[in-house]
Amino acid sequence: MVAKESIYYCHPVFRPPSEAHSLLIQLTEGCTYKCNFCVSNLNKDFKIREVSEVKKDLDIAKKQSGAYIRKLFFLDGNAMVTPTEKLLEVTNYAMDIFPKLERVGVYAHAKDIIKKSDSQLKSLSDAGLKIAYVGFESGYDPLLKEVHKHATKAEYIKASKKLMKAGITLSATLINGLGGSNNPELSREHALESAELVNKICPDDDRIWYIAFLTLMVPSGTEIFRKKINGEFQEMNSLEILKELKDFINRIEFHNKSANCIFRSNHASNYLPIKGILDREKEEILSTINYGLTHKNILRPEFYRGL
Ligand SMILES: C[S@@+](CC[C@H](N)C(=O)[O-])C[C@H]1O[C@@H](n2cnc3c(N)ncnc32)[C@H](O)[C@@H]1O
Ligand code: SF4
Repeated sequence: MVAKESIYYCHPVFRPPSEAHSLLIQLTEGCTYKCNFCVSNLNKDFKIREVSEVKKDLDIAKKQSGAYIRKLFFLDGNAMVTPTEKLLEVTNYAMDIFPKLERVGVYAHAKDIIKKSDSQLKSLSDAGLKIAYVGFESGYDPLLKEVHKHATKAEYIKASKKLMKAGITLSATLINGLGGSNNPELSREHALESAELVNKICPDDDRIWYIAFLTLMVPSGTEIFRKKINGEFQEMNSLEILKELKDFINRIEFHNKSANCIFRSNHASNYLPIKGILDREKEEILSTINYGLTHKNILRPEFYRGL
């Protein structure tokens, strides 16, 4: 009997919720950064796989379900770090072999976007790389430093504008509760500076872009978990989380009233599912948050939360 060929994965793998039905192909393994809350870099030595190995996996996928693949996501935590030529080669190859492929996506740290020139990003976009998931986490620089994010608000603005200029859709995530419970001033700065960041990257046109808030989880093995065990970090409760989110939404004010920023805070880590378009549906979003603040019984129980 001939053994069935299988696509290679370096487990555990992480992908954005919106890539749930995409073909997942391992382009890199692990991550070059070490953010203190993230499990993507644990127990994996960072590596960029050989183009020939990636193509082999794409060929296997073609044999298994090639006619149906519409979306492809290149794993792992930061595939944008891949040199442009390699990323182009595997993107072009995938576009060639999958007749219905509409887009390729990657996770992208801001610094690795900035390292690419505008023309490199444009060539990736033209080839089919149409969405980049960027972890902002916060717009407040002292907090970004505290969690070892290795990026600043100014770099997020620059990276976002470069993506938009190249025609690559921006999907950015922020983390509610990232500063912890014992510092209300830090929570407020996190909310306000994050809103300022989002206000600043709002494009002049009506293209679709995405901003999502996750809520901090403290997975074992991470630096933030160690801090929690040592009593140096205390998680926010659900009401503090919603107040922080309310401060963020209150501060959102776009110069472009036709903007199409899809806002979501409906991930499994969130206490209250919220969706809307910023800044047009700001009032509706605020009333949902206010409802959650006054009806604690509708909030997702702690044991149902996850990453
Ligand atoms: C796998 S990471 C990839 C992001 C990308 N490497 C970057 O830094 O731009 C995806 C996102 O999940 C979120 N995330 C990771 N760990 C988390 C945690 N412990 N709690 C809440 N959100 C988390 C962060 O927003 C992070 O940017
Ligand atoms: S958040 Fe992104 S950059 Fe930071 S460790 Fe995780 S995957 Fe790497």
